[in-house]
Amino acid sequence: MKSKNCSPIGLFDSGVGGWSVLNAVHELMPHESLIYVADSAFAPYGDKSPKQIIERSFSIVDFLVGEGCKAIVVACNTATAAAISHLRDHYQVPIIGVEPGIKPAVEQSLTGRVGVMATQYTVESEKFQHLLSRFENKQIVIQPCPGLVELIEAPETLDQQLLEYLSSQLSSFRREGIDTLALGCTHYGFVLDQIKTVLGEAVRIIDTPSAVARELKRRLDSEDLVCDDSTSSVQLLTTSEDLVRAQNRVEKLLKRDWVVTHQSIGDKDAKSVI
Ligand code: DGL
Repeated sequence: MKSKNCSPIGLFDSGVGGWSVLNAVHELMPHESLIYVADSAFAPYGDKSPKQIIERSFSIVDFLVGEGCKAIVVACNTATAAAISHLRDHYQVPIIGVEPGIKPAVEQSLTGRVGVMATQYTVESEKFQHLLSRFENKQIVIQPCPGLVELIEAPETLDQQLLEYLSSQLSSFRREGIDTLALGCTHYGFVLDQIKTVLGEAVRIIDTPSAVARELKRRLDSEDLVCDDSTSSVQLLTTSEDLVRAQNRVEKLLKRDWVVTHQSIGDKDAKSVI
């Protein structure tokens, strides 16, 4: 029988964005079993109310804890901003979140002009405003990107559409002459090349999946929860019923041969509330 240390780690996001974190965790700790929930039936989270995001987060973490997960990664900036403190109050297992890497961006900037792109919800959240208040004397340009998560989720999105969206949405960064950009949404790493095309190679881009994976490892180490079982597995789940679309995203974005399966989570009628 497996020890508790070899129970899986649960990760979730509104959709495919947290796969960037899943990848980083799998690369750093290949012996850990992982269960990832893409809540694609309810994506995007960024235009939902706090109540809606909190409800979905609880439904998913309930499911993951029910599957025996020893730790949870909220692989979504938006759900972290809305729900992580409530989740930590409620569950015993370690819960790791993600937030935009403003600190490393500020540290690495040579001009002191830093950009942050994130969902509408994240930039308006109390948690983000609190993070920002630590850098009051810095020049930080904030750009919400409504609609970008949907473009990344959709297999039919053309490169040209992404470039047009980013050229118009990121014009404030070019105007302000930022030299460093913090990605505040786990989806955005999947359009890194397009962001570089629009802003130029000289702009340094800070994304956080590897830092989140390292933080998770630190927590597992400190709580004696590390697994070194060579029979680890990665289970990809989606709340969407469109598995063809989901599998297309796995191949194109995640570039793995992992198979995605459907999983209903929470109230079937919840979508009508949202
Ligand atoms: N990947 C999520 C994040 O990091 C996207 C949220 C959304 O669905 O809008 O915020």
